[in-house]
Amino acid sequence: MITHQNGVFHIQTESYSYLFKIDDYGIPEHLHFGTPVQTEDAFPLSCRPGLGWGSNVLLREGDTASNLDALALEWSGSGRGDYRESPVELTGRATDFRYETFEILEGSAVMTSGLPQAHGAMETLHLTLGQKGAKLHLYYTAFPTALVRRSALENTGEETIPLGKIMSFCVDLPGSYTMATFNGGWIGEMRRENTPVGASKVVNESLTGASSNRHNPGFLLYEADATETAGRVYGFNLVYSGNHYASAQRSLQGLTRVMQGIHMSHFRKDLAPGEWFETPEAVLACSDAGFGGLSRNMHIFVNDHIIRPDWQGRPRPVLYNSWEGCVFDFNQHRLLELADRAKELGCELFVLDDGWFGQRNNDHAGLGDYNVNRKKLPQGMEGLSRRIREKGLEFGLWFEPESVNPDSDLYRAHPEWALTDAFEPVYGRNQLLLDLTRKEVRDYIVENVSRILDNAQISYVKWDMNRHSIALGAKAHDFVLGLYDVLRRIFIPRRHILLESCSSGGNRFDLGMLCFSPQIWASDDTDPVERLTIQEGYSYLYPQSTIGAHVSAAPHAQTLRTTPLSTRGNVAFFGCLGYELDLKHLLNVEIKEIKEQIAFYKQYRDIFQYGTFGRTNLGWQVSDGKTTLAGVFHRLVPAAPGYEQLRLTGLNPQKRYQVTSLAQTIRVGQFGNLLKHVAPVHIDPNGQLLRMADRHVTLPAGNECFTASGAALMSGILLRPLFRGTGYDQNQRTQGDFGSDIYIVEELAE
Ligand code: GLA
Repeated sequence: MITHQNGVFHIQTESYSYLFKIDDYGIPEHLHFGTPVQTEDAFPLSCRPGLGWGSNVLLREGDTASNLDALALEWSGSGRGDYRESPVELTGRATDFRYETFEILEGSAVMTSGLPQAHGAMETLHLTLGQKGAKLHLYYTAFPTALVRRSALENTGEETIPLGKIMSFCVDLPGSYTMATFNGGWIGEMRRENTPVGASKVVNESLTGASSNRHNPGFLLYEADATETAGRVYGFNLVYSGNHYASAQRSLQGLTRVMQGIHMSHFRKDLAPGEWFETPEAVLACSDAGFGGLSRNMHIFVNDHIIRPDWQGRPRPVLYNSWEGCVFDFNQHRLLELADRAKELGCELFVLDDGWFGQRNNDHAGLGDYNVNRKKLPQGMEGLSRRIREKGLEFGLWFEPESVNPDSDLYRAHPEWALTDAFEPVYGRNQLLLDLTRKEVRDYIVENVSRILDNAQISYVKWDMNRHSIALGAKAHDFVLGLYDVLRRIFIPRRHILLESCSSGGNRFDLGMLCFSPQIWASDDTDPVERLTIQEGYSYLYPQSTIGAHVSAAPHAQTLRTTPLSTRGNVAFFGCLGYELDLKHLLNVEIKEIKEQIAFYKQYRDIFQYGTFGRTNLGWQVSDGKTTLAGVFHRLVPAAPGYEQLRLTGLNPQKRYQVTSLAQTIRVGQFGNLLKHVAPVHIDPNGQLLRMADRHVTLPAGNECFTASGAALMSGILLRPLFRGTGYDQNQRTQGDFGSDIYIVEELAE
């Protein structure tokens, strides 16, 4: 509900209140963003400058309440006494926007520039501020668990306005915060970094042309004592896939100014009279129930208002992807063999990755071309997809339409379609970006991708993009709009297709892409130990249903680490499960285990993909209120490990729960030389006998089965002992490094 009383605007939902007032000068002053309060609280929530702070520049001499620099504001400008960072810059000019009018709209105010937009809004407050020759529009759109803000600048004068910067929002929050950002690079996405916000600005930004794996646009501000279950945490994110900028800085008065929007470097729009520029939507969420509370609010918002309605709450298929198993080396025969295996294991969707078109036999050639390689696929895509579907699997296909290899028919025909700057071109993965700001380029992509999709039985697309941009410059924003246009034209008429976006893994994991693709490939790194960091990083801002998570081979391609198959599965369960390895060489014990993994995942898929997510002291949990699934994960285990206490959250303390663990096993081969202590006959640790046994035999590794009250489970239960170098016992969790468990906690009927 949005109300306006005595100059106070109050946006109120079940989970938050957002209040601001228009002061005597027509300046919107921020009052509150947090737990629901009453409109009458406006007075005690206001800044009271008293006799001022000294050395002030005042809007009206003598009135210390007109010191913009010391007030909590909803927006600001430059040249009128606020020396903090301004969210808007009209190159070389002062800005001083004052309140003019407001309107309250049902739902959202529809955007006109082609940017994606959250859907299913409750109401929107549209505030208009003005200064000579320009109007500033501020939009506040209420969703149950998040507030969406954006701005737009309109040239109402007679001269061109040189717009050098305009953020989606700006707000001054009272208090002291630490900023958590999620940074990294290829195969190392979403590493959380915490930086206290003080008088020096803390910035989260990307200038790679994409939202990037270097600095995800989503970030948190939290109070120092915040934990998973208590304390104040704010979350921010942008519905945008290009260069972004966010900053936070604390003033002498103890106000933290935070803003986010399109990055101002390489950004300049000259707004002609009558023209208007709109910024992407920014998402603001808050919780006084710690990081867990904030994540829940963000997850609900993304699942309900970012993901396309036709994919909302829909089970995501267990897929097999050909990339890590085959790379470029496949033909129809091999793919059909793999499909048989994938089907037998329980997969539901077979995805053919890179290498099916043009001269794409390695990553030096072929991008830009769409002719199916008939040497590899003699029956074409229609034939392959038909044969795969006859096996009872859905069929999906990889594309990388935004890029071009210089060694391609497309580049030879249209070198001018590639983005290059004034210097010698520099390549990323031997490729350049196509100029998506040109209509003919977009038409070419739309026509060719659509032709392939319409001439084969394709129900899933992996849309990749493996090139950072350095040549975009001033075209950066228009490129992103071009991409959205292409996605809209291809996929809106083909709503049955599940789109998974990807950019060298998680190089474009953002809310803009999620408006089109309900899931995103989180990282090329599928090592489960790395994934603990990567998936946990995503979990702060993005729900499990959006995170592509695959089981791959060990030793692992990116880390050379050997991890148990069980842990690879147990980690991938907390996302959209897939398998990405050569299925031909699986051992019998592995086939059995993968079948069990997939069957287990399908049984609890709804909870894994859509349950309420939490980070526990030993791993992660998901819950639908009745059943909680908890993963306990180990990295390196020490010798003589002590008792392990698992503390769950969100249970009913009065109820009783049945706790069982997913049967974990250990391969006999892992004991190697140690078998001599238990075997009646001599066993050569490198011999045939052990190798043979290892293919067929596993040993139990400590399974649990007991009942407990919710109170005990939340207070902390002690798990079965870990291996301590004192021998094998089937009741012990004999797992070693990188071991893990899944606990199934089910509420018992009274
Ligand atoms: C990128 C993707 C991978 C795979 C390859 C194919 O690296 O992240 O998953 O699709 O491209 O070239």
